[in-house]
Amino acid sequence: MNNTADTLPKNNLVKEILFWKKKREALILAHVYQPGDIQDIADFTGDSLFLSQQAAKTQAKVIVFCGVQFMAETASMLSPEKIVLLPEIKAGCPLADMASAEEVKNKIKELSKAVVVSYVNSSAVVKSLSDYCCTSANAVQIAKAIPAEKEILFLPDMNLANFTAKKAKRKIIPWPGFCPTHHLLTREEVIKAKKLHPLALLLVHPECRPEVGDLADYIGSTRGIIEFASNNQAKEYIIGTELGILHPLKKNNPNKIFFPASENMVCRDMKLITLEKILCSLQNLEPRIIVPEEIRKKSLQALNRMIEIT
Ligand code: 13P
Repeated sequence: MNNTADTLPKNNLVKEILFWKKKREALILAHVYQPGDIQDIADFTGDSLFLSQQAAKTQAKVIVFCGVQFMAETASMLSPEKIVLLPEIKAGCPLADMASAEEVKNKIKELSKAVVVSYVNSSAVVKSLSDYCCTSANAVQIAKAIPAEKEILFLPDMNLANFTAKKAKRKIIPWPGFCPTHHLLTREEVIKAKKLHPLALLLVHPECRPEVGDLADYIGSTRGIIEFASNNQAKEYIIGTELGILHPLKKNNPNKIFFPASENMVCRDMKLITLEKILCSLQNLEPRIIVPEEIRKKSLQALNRMIEIT
């Protein structure tokens, strides 16, 4: 039988991926929201900041980005000489889509004196219109680095904007966007989870609503959450971010127990990537993510300013 990626048993599929990865001199990067079997075959897993740093450093010829469009775009901006593959081209980000280039241009005109900080979860064009880029791991640090007298327009996530304003003690104008997966988590669900697991610490992502953050023992990026849980003495944790993160949390901490704050915290776009699609992508060197040079140059300034500060 002529085995296609769709019919290969999982072990063979993984072997084939590793064979093609070597042949293509490729590096596989996976965000921690990816399905567990994909995280297990990746060279690096981590948060948006860490993965973009790996993309910038690597000597590999090909980067297979197991994540969503804006992440692969960022990798391509930082490594334009490399082939950047996104195994499922439809894997987008509803939050990034909440700030169109046209709307952002108009807002910038209206607030002509404001410094524009765009969260990495934004399109390449929006980044090219921005002064600084940031991730959830360094948003506070970036805001603090901007001269105090300057007004900041922060986009596209309003919850991260408000969290950053509070932590950096800065006046920030938030763009009214949100991540549907994180914004979905309600205070009531969290209170219910806390009642069910009274000894557990609550760790949430800053894309959650402020009233959820108010109940948390820790608010941080996905890497921050993983580090907090690994270094803390507590045995039980309620996790308020996308469910994919439970994979590394459980793997790295076999003696601890992790409960999702809500079973509904699933990013459908992240789950569009499969092992089969990774294999096809390595074989065909498609779908490729290429950022037009003019946009790349402009957005790189915002990205490099972030990398310099952090
Ligand atoms: P991190 O940068 O914390 O990994 O978050 C990425 C993301 O897309 C959150 O929705």
